[in-house]
Formats: sequence, structure tokens, C-alpha cells
Amino acid sequence: MIIYFTGTGNSRFVAEQIAEATGDELVNAVKYTRKNRNAVFSTPGIYVFVSPIYVSAPPMVFLDFIRHSTFPGDCRAYFIMTCAGGMGGAPGYCKALAAEKGFTYMGTAEVEMPQNYIAMFKTGTPEENRAKIEAAVPVVSNLSIAIRNCRELPDPGMKGWELLSTRMVLAPYYKYFMTSKPFAATEKCIGCGKCAAVCPLANIVMQDGKPVWGDNCTHCMGCINLCPKEAVEYGKGTHGKLRYHGPRSV
Ligand SMILES: Cc1cc2nc3c(=O)[nH]c(=O)nc-3n(C[C@H](O)[C@H](O)[C@H](O)COP(=O)(O)O)c2cc1C
Repeated sequence: MIIYFTGTGNSRFVAEQIAEATGDELVNAVKYTRKNRNAVFSTPGIYVFVSPIYVSAPPMVFLDFIRHSTFPGDCRAYFIMTCAGGMGGAPGYCKALAAEKGFTYMGTAEVEMPQNYIAMFKTGTPEENRAKIEAAVPVVSNLSIAIRNCRELPDPGMKGWELLSTRMVLAPYYKYFMTSKPFAATEKCIGCGKCAAVCPLANIVMQDGKPVWGDNCTHCMGCINLCPKEAVEYGKGTHGKLRYHGPRSV
């Protein structure tokens, strides 16, 4: 089973490719995280967890979803992380979670995809994004072969300091920076509700035809990047920046 979490579609794109190559069932964890619900999985065998990297680790909401969901006794777990540059301390988090859940840990791998963290960085041009996605396809294809043959993934060579620095930064980052307060809709907003529909935590409600953000935000950047009118801004820092409309748009 391939279980994925996504903000702007990169992880869905990778999960779909793996599912196509392995013939495994695809499950969108966002269906559950939007309702703040866990899941019960009853099929023993291989589980592939696909998600973006948030601050050198898997998203806490996805780790919590896996942690609190129910799995059968005999599971082998792969973790595939989409990221813009590197997965940092993520293998440490994935390995620890696999141990906690009693999974046989089969490894963690990164797949470089376009940058979506527009609140902090510049996103790529459509050409740069296309090149990244094209380069990712054979990487995912090799990972799919390993998964289909139930082979362990190679050790990604995470350094001890990478895990240590991720651990030091993560909690304060979530507490002080992952806030939705600077999000606002501009006069370009047509009230279509796409931002609310894509939010993986159902943290946006439409009021009088305009989006209103609650305080349960994991900074997935779906609302701002996927807005068809580019009518969402995050403070002043996103004005004039290119939006990343997701892998299907490039
Ligand atoms: C909150 C946040 C934090 C991120 N942190 C990192 C990071 O530490 N390293 C990195 O390489 N990419 C980072 N990224 C980029 C994403 O991991 C990358 O663009 C990913 O493919 C997005 O996947 P999605 O489209 O499935 O949401 C971050 C993105 C967001 C939104």
C-alpha cells in the first residue's frame, strides 16, 4: 500500500508513479488529516509512506497520522521523501517511527522535486521545475524496482549532526514560524474556494466568499501556490514571486 501526504502535489506525483510500477493501492492520507482522523489498515505486507520534507523531517502531521493509525502485525515500511534540496535528519525520524510501530524498516530515500516553500524561498521557473521533475522520474523508477523486489534501500548516509540539528530546530520552528497569520487573500480573489479545498488540515473556511485561515497550519503552501488567480499572499515576502502550481502544471 502506498500512503501519501501532499501540499502541492509533488508527493502525490511520486506516490502515483510507485503505485503504477508496483500495482499497489494508493491512499491519500489528506483524506484523514483533513478530518483529524486516523486509519485502520488491515493488509499485511509492504507499506510505502510518501511525503514532503518540512524542515529536514517528515511533516509532523504525517508522522502523527502513521503513529496513531492501526496497522497489521507483519509490515515492512519504506519512506520516500520529496524535497527541494535534501532530507536532512528525516531518516532518523522514519527509522524511529518504524521501530515504534513494530514495522520492519526497509529504508528512507529522497526524491528531489521543485521547491514549493514560497513563504521562505523563491520557487523555480517552469523550465527549472520541469527539469527537476524529469530528473526525478528515473530515480522513482529505481526506487519502485527495489520496492517491488522487497529490497532494502541503500543507507542514505545521514550524518549524526544532521539529525541533531533537525531535532534542535524542529519544535521551535513549528511553534514560532508555522503560523497562518500572514496569509491573506488579495482583491484578485474570486472566492472559488480552491484554497479551502486543497488545505490538508481543513484550516481554511470561506466566509462571505473569501478565505479565512484558522490557526492549525502546517505551512504546506497549497493555498498560496495552487490558487488559480495567484490571489493569496504570505505577508509582503511573496509579492511578485513565481507560484509553483504543482507537477501537473509544468
Ligand atoms: C514547510 C516546508 C518546509 C520545507 N523544508 C524543506 C527542507 O528542509 N528541505 C528541502 O529540501 N525542502 C524543503 N521543503 C520543500 C518541499 O519538501 C518540496 O518542495 C516538496 O516536494 C513539496 O511536496 P508536496 O508538493 O508533496 O507538498 C519545504 C517545504 C515546506 C512547505
